Amino acid sequence: MDISKNSLYNFGVVSLLFSGVLYICIWSPPNTNPLLLFQESACLRSTSFTHTTDVVIDDLEAVLQKASMPNKTVIIAVVNKAYVEQTVEADTTMLDIFLESFWLGVGTRQLLDHLLIVAVDQTAYDRCMFKRLHCYRLVTDGVDFASEKVYMSRDFIKMMWRRTQFLLDVIKRGYNFIFTDTDVIWLRNPFTRLSKKETVDLQMSVDTYNGDPRSQENLINTGFYFVRSNNKTISLFTTWYGMKDNSTGKKDQDVLLELMTQGLFKKLRLRVRFLPTLYFSGFCENSKDIWLVTTVHSNCCRHVDAKVQDLKAVLRDWKRFKEAKVKSPIMAPNRTMVTRWSEHIACFNSWKPPNNNLRN
Ligand SMILES: *[C@@H]1O[C@H](CO)[C@@H](O)[C@H](O)[C@H]1NC(C)=O
Ligand SMILES: *[C@@H]1O[C@H](CO)[C@@H](O)[C@H](O)[C@H]1NC(C)=O
Ligand SMILES: *[C@@H]1O[C@H](CO)[C@@H](O)[C@H](O)[C@H]1NC(C)=O
Ligand SMILES: *[C@@H]1O[C@H](CO)[C@@H](O)[C@H](O)[C@H]1NC(C)=O
Repeated sequence: MDISKNSLYNFGVVSLLFSGVLYICIWSPPNTNPLLLFQESACLRSTSFTHTTDVVIDDLEAVLQKASMPNKTVIIAVVNKAYVEQTVEADTTMLDIFLESFWLGVGTRQLLDHLLIVAVDQTAYDRCMFKRLHCYRLVTDGVDFASEKVYMSRDFIKMMWRRTQFLLDVIKRGYNFIFTDTDVIWLRNPFTRLSKKETVDLQMSVDTYNGDPRSQENLINTGFYFVRSNNKTISLFTTWYGMKDNSTGKKDQDVLLELMTQGLFKKLRLRVRFLPTLYFSGFCENSKDIWLVTTVHSNCCRHVDAKVQDLKAVLRDWKRFKEAKVKSPIMAPNRTMVTRWSEHIACFNSWKPPNNNLRN
């Protein structure tokens, strides 16, 4: 075909093609388009992650490559609108506090380069891009994930399962990851506390720690964990996600806990370590030593507002500690005296029955 002779014709073909691409990008609903692969490579946003081949580098693969460390390890946090937008009264957001902790923490600043923010709605995505982070837009059919998902509401549970499905995709692609909720603040570099052994498949934080890192009596919390990508963990996440439609009203964490008690870890010969709250702490159980604390999770708390308020207090405690350390190097010997966390008052109150609205 000799089209180069006629540049006008050429132009027409190009613009037709271009408008075709635009049409597909803008108008096609996710997952129903036979040209899905084409669409993924042609558009900025990806609509599906079920089509992976070694040839196609889709949006997710591209962003994982950019964000991951040389050893294919990445830090993943999922955000929605409620975590990135200030209400009228608020002076900050959960995402901002989370990011601030990477600045205030010890050995955490460089980790920001390896943080992948997964946005479940457009506002969260825009906010992430504005902050010049690594961002990925996770799309789901027929659900609006934008508003705050109150603990255990139907949409909250749906969002959790979508997250599990996404994370399964990430390990299938060969990436290890730390998953962190954005209501976990990072005060020290967690990699220094996590086991580096290749044989440890999963390291998971807990609400309360029973003293034994191998004991499955520990009350797991999926707000912070490290997974190595291998066949065993892929099986685990596949089984876990497979329970989605057989677990009405249960969130993914409860289902994992159930699978654990039913002996799935043993069956898969999965090596799991539970992380001591001395390092990986939370509001359910404070770290006993501010000299060692690595992360603080606002667990045992019900609303974003309350979490933000009490995490701000933790950051204040932390700044006070850092300042005191500079001023008085001799305070080191008595750690009990130094480790004093503010009370988590807003979170405590978040469980009280509502008196003026229906938000609970
Ligand atoms: C990957 O590399 C980083 C930076 O060198 C290191 O801190 C981390 O422990 C490594 N991760 C694993 C899983 O080995
Ligand atoms: C994982 O499974 C694949 C396919 O079954 C197999 O080829 C591979 O050797 C396995 N890898 C490991 C580390 O077991
Ligand atoms: C789904 O739940 C039912 C009732 O609890 C159980 O009998 C069945 O084995 C479950 N199916 C799967 C695939 O786990
Ligand atoms: C450290 O301080 C705490 C609280 O003030 C006190 O109870 C404890 O006895 C002190 N420990 C030492 C070794 O001085």
